[in-house]
Amino acid sequence: MTVLGIESSCDECSVAVVRDGRQILSHLIHSQIEDHARYGGVVPEIASRKHVEWILPLFRRACEDAAIDPARDLDAVAVTTEPGLSGSLLVGLGFAKGLAIAIDRPLVAVDHILAHLYAPRIESEIALPYLGLLVSGGHTIVCRVDGWDSMTVLGTTTDDACGEAFDKIAKYFGFGYPGGLAVDRLAANGDPYAYDFPESRLESPAHRYDVSYSGLKTAVVAQRERFRRAGAVESAENIAASFQRVAIDTVMRRLERAIADTGIRRVAIAGGVAANSYLRKRGGALAVKELHIPSMELCTDNAAMIAGIGFEYVRAGRFVELDVPVNARVRGYRRIGGRRREGDTPTE
Ligand code: KG4
Ligand code: ZN
Repeated sequence: MTVLGIESSCDECSVAVVRDGRQILSHLIHSQIEDHARYGGVVPEIASRKHVEWILPLFRRACEDAAIDPARDLDAVAVTTEPGLSGSLLVGLGFAKGLAIAIDRPLVAVDHILAHLYAPRIESEIALPYLGLLVSGGHTIVCRVDGWDSMTVLGTTTDDACGEAFDKIAKYFGFGYPGGLAVDRLAANGDPYAYDFPESRLESPAHRYDVSYSGLKTAVVAQRERFRRAGAVESAENIAASFQRVAIDTVMRRLERAIADTGIRRVAIAGGVAANSYLRKRGGALAVKELHIPSMELCTDNAAMIAGIGFEYVRAGRFVELDVPVNARVRGYRRIGGRRREGDTPTE
C-alpha cells in the first residue's frame, strides 16, 4: 500500500511517499530556517505563505523521485491536522483535500505527536509496549506506547518544551538560529561542568515523570555567577555545554525513572531534540535492552513519519471526510492514573 504524506504543522514543508508504512520511496523536506532566522523564531504568517509556495513543487518532485503516477499508484493521502500552527496546518490540509478529490482516494488526518512517536518504527521493528520520549520544540512527553494510536502519558513539561528551552537560551545569548542546533554545535567545544545549573526538582508523586525548564532558564540567564564552578571561564561554549547537559539530563532522568518503575526495557526517543548529540550519547547509558533513536531526518518534522503512520490509519479504516478541520491544540491524551490536565479534551 502506497501512502503520500504531507507535513506542514510548523516551519518544515515536507512531502513523502512511503510503501507499507516502512519503505520510503521519496522524501523531501523544505526547511524555512532562512526565512525566520532574522526574527529569531517562527513567524506564523511567513510560515503559511512559504508552505503555499513550496507544497506543489515538493509534491511533484516527491512523485517523480518515487517514480509514481499519483492518480494510479497512491492508495491514500495522509496529512498532519493537529497540533500545530493553524495557518500552516491549513495549507497542508487544503492541498491534501484537493489531491484526495483529484485522484479520488481516501484522506487520513494524522496526529503529529503520534507520528513523531511512530518515526522510530520506520527504521526498526519495535515490539509493544515500549517507552517513548518525545522531545521537540513544542512537546516534551514521557509515555508508554501500546500501539500506533495508543499511548499513555506518564509525564510532560509544566512550562517550556525541551526544544523551546534550547531555542530561548540560544536567542537570549545570540548563539544562532535554530537554537537547538546552535547550542549543540557550541557545546561540542565547551566544558559541560563549567556551571552546576540546577535540574528541575518536581518530586511530588503527581509530578514523578514531569519536567520544568523555568528554573534552569533563570539560572542560565541571570544566576550564572551562583552556579559557576571554581575557576570556570565564562564563554559561550561553556554556557552552551553546561545548559545542554542539564537540559538533557533533566528529561533523561525522568525516562530512567519510568524504565525502573515500569520494568519496560524498550525505549524509543523521537522529535527534534532527539537529534542532539549529547542526548544520543547519553541514551547509550540507559539501562535498556533496546534503544531506538531515528536517523536525523526522521527526528525533526518530516512527512515520512506522516505517510508511515498513515499506513496504520488506513489499515484501521480511520479515514476522514473532506470537512475535517485543523486543530492547533494538543489533544488530551490518556494520562497515568486517569488524570488529565486542565483544558484537555478527552479522546475517549
Ligand atoms: O520536532 P521538531 O522539528 O518540531 C516540533 O515538532 O517542535 O523539533 C524542533 C526542535 C527545536 O526546538 C530545535 O531547537 C530542536 O528541535 N533541535 C535540537 C537539535 N536539533 C533540533 N535541540 C537540541 N539539539 C539539536 N541538535
Ligand atoms: Zn514536530
